Amino acid sequence: MKIVLVGYMGSGKSTVGKRLAKDLGFNFFDLDSYMEASQKMKIPEIFKEKGEIYFRKIEKDCVREVLSLKEDLILSTGGGTPCYGGNIDVMLALAEHVFFLKVSIPELVKRLSKEKEDRPLIRHIDEESLPEFIGRHLFERNNFYSRATKTIDCDNKEPRTIVEEVKGFLV
Ligand code: S3P
Repeated sequence: MKIVLVGYMGSGKSTVGKRLAKDLGFNFFDLDSYMEASQKMKIPEIFKEKGEIYFRKIEKDCVREVLSLKEDLILSTGGGTPCYGGNIDVMLALAEHVFFLKVSIPELVKRLSKEKEDRPLIRHIDEESLPEFIGRHLFERNNFYSRATKTIDCDNKEPRTIVEEVKGFLV
C-alpha cells in the first residue's frame, strides 16, 4: 500500500508521515530529503543555485521514482508538490490514499513565522505580510490539495491524533 501526505508548508506532513510509517511498519520517504540526497544539495541551495523551475523538474522525477517502488510506503511531499507537473494525477494513480493535512491560515502563520529561514518561498516575506501571502498561496493551491482522497483537519491536534485519524481511514 502507498500513502501520500500533501499540505502546505508547516502542516506537519513529515512528523505525521514518520510516525505513521513506524506504526504501520512501512518505509518512510520525505520527498525534500529524497531530493536533497539525489542532488547532494540542500533545498534552499537548489532554489538559489538552480532556480525553481529546475527544482520542480527534479521534484516531478522524484515523485514518480518513489511511487514506482514495489513496496509499502508513506511519502510526505513538499508543500508545492501536488500543484506542479501533473504530480497530483500521478499520486492518485499510484497511491491508494492521498491525505491532505489541512491547517488554517492563522495556525500556519504562527508555525511558519518561526521557521521561515529554511524555506525559500517565504524567507523574503516580512512578518506582517505573511498572513496575506499564505492566504493567497493557499487559495491558488487549494484546487490541487482538495483533490486528495481525504482531507484531515489538523488545527489544534497533536500529531498522534492525526496519525490515528489517518489510520482509521485505511481499513
Ligand atoms: C515548497 C515546500 C517545501 C519545499 C520547497 C518548496 C512549496 O517543503 O519542497 O521549499 O512549494 O511549498 P515543505 O512543505 O516540507 O516545507
